[in-house]
Amino acid sequence: MGAPSQLPPPRATVGRDSVLSAVVDELLVEGSTVVLGPPGIGKTNLTLAALHDPQVEAHYGRRRYFVRCEGAANASEVVAELARAMGLSVAGDDLLGACLESLRTTPSAVCLDNAETPWSIDQLNCEELFGHLTRHSTVLISMRGLELPGGVQPAHRVSLDELSLESAKELFLMAAGERFDQPALDPLLDEMGGLPLAVELLAHALHGEESLDSLARRWRSEQTRVLKRGAGDHRLLSVEVSLEASWNDHLMTSSARHLLSMLSRLPHGVATVYVSSLLPDGADAASVLRRRGLAFDEAGRLRTHPLIRHYVATAHPPGPAEWERAIAKFRHLPAKHVLQSAAALTEPPIAIEALWDGDTTGWGVWLSAIVLADGKPAERSLGFLRGLGGDIRLFNAQVPPWPDAEVAAWAGRMIADQFNVPFWFPSPIYPEEDCPRYLERHLGTPCAQCGIPLLQRGPCPWKGVCYQCHLESSRQTRRKTKPLAE
Ligand SMILES: Nc1ncnc2c1ncn2[C@@H]1O[C@H](COP(=O)(O)OP(=O)(O)OP(=O)(O)O)[C@@H](O)[C@H]1O
Ligand SMILES: [Mg+2]
Repeated sequence: MGAPSQLPPPRATVGRDSVLSAVVDELLVEGSTVVLGPPGIGKTNLTLAALHDPQVEAHYGRRRYFVRCEGAANASEVVAELARAMGLSVAGDDLLGACLESLRTTPSAVCLDNAETPWSIDQLNCEELFGHLTRHSTVLISMRGLELPGGVQPAHRVSLDELSLESAKELFLMAAGERFDQPALDPLLDEMGGLPLAVELLAHALHGEESLDSLARRWRSEQTRVLKRGAGDHRLLSVEVSLEASWNDHLMTSSARHLLSMLSRLPHGVATVYVSSLLPDGADAASVLRRRGLAFDEAGRLRTHPLIRHYVATAHPPGPAEWERAIAKFRHLPAKHVLQSAAALTEPPIAIEALWDGDTTGWGVWLSAIVLADGKPAERSLGFLRGLGGDIRLFNAQVPPWPDAEVAAWAGRMIADQFNVPFWFPSPIYPEEDCPRYLERHLGTPCAQCGIPLLQRGPCPWKGVCYQCHLESSRQTRRKTKPLAE
């Protein structure tokens, strides 16, 4: 028997006091713990901090074994790694028997770090191994995802959450230096979503920058590509490598990948009840993503972490046709009454028009069909689209396009195509009441700035330009006007 390998050195651990002391307590009573959480959240950091705790050290001494499982493809390879960590000869028929025999004699703590890799490939054998180890020693397992593996129950389960902004700041300043405690730091850290790996790599990226502002600019243009150091070829050196490992996880299904691609385009996620509308097997895909720690539920919506979203949106965006198919269903929901009115038209339309209308409660878009009734043009209202701020707005993350206008444009175009007639939507981007109707279109004059057709009846303080362009010019003027001297 050789010497057991050294534990890797501890790293600084911030913001985990209560969860760390719970893991330490469990180790001291020789109970097993499984630490779960999304990629880069600090599972390994926490297990190492617990193993290095002075009381744990006093209890187990050198019999604290740290087994890296990220390179193991099955249970036998985990056993080989364990034997190496314990200093047992790797040759021999019954390596597991030899490990268990040795573990039984004196209290030992075995940490299987990143056990998700072998477990996702060789689940049953790994669970059998976890069971054996739990009976003979204290086991501390860290795994990506939120799924408790079999074999270790009953176990203390720890699910790691994001770091608070305060802790993220402490971690950042520890790595970057206190002088970067500047107002621009909080919003930048906020975008890291409390992921320690990202915070650490962001602090590192600062080394090549002249200031926090230039780092923030780089982050805005390059996003997760900034979050790497050195060769960036290991999950600890690059957020993208870390996330790609989860994307390729053996337990990811192709529909889970599709759903994650869709979620990457939905900053506020999707209402859980609509997940199956996004994808036929959406419920199953959502459950895979939750178990892998790649999506979570919040206030009735399925969402993903902002960094995962940024990465997947760039590396694995949904195909345009797939995306269009998925959101068409959502556009259909609020436009349903309009489509029904169009289907019930008895006179053939000659055009479909969409016009803004507003009052003190907000803007909306009227959709109408211009029909020929007894040979004369007449208007048939198809419906009013307003207040669609809910789910559809989230497909855009911002306005414009206004969700009401987007739905109106989609439904109007579809109805017009159906009847093979023109679709008239003179102000498709911004709300504007002073546009000519389809039958008056020859009377319109283009806005002097953006060119949309206008029909401004009576006196108008911004004659010749549309309301939006008028607002924009007023804003510019205000910006140029110096504040009054005191
Ligand atoms: N609470 C923390 N305080 C300080 N640094 C931390 C903390 N948590 C994690 N880190 C640092 O962030 C990096 C990523 O953490 P860690 O490797 O523990 O994450 P992980 O959840 O194990 O990731 P993976 O899912 O890839 O296994 C490491 O360099 C780690 O030291
Ligand atoms: Mg880890």
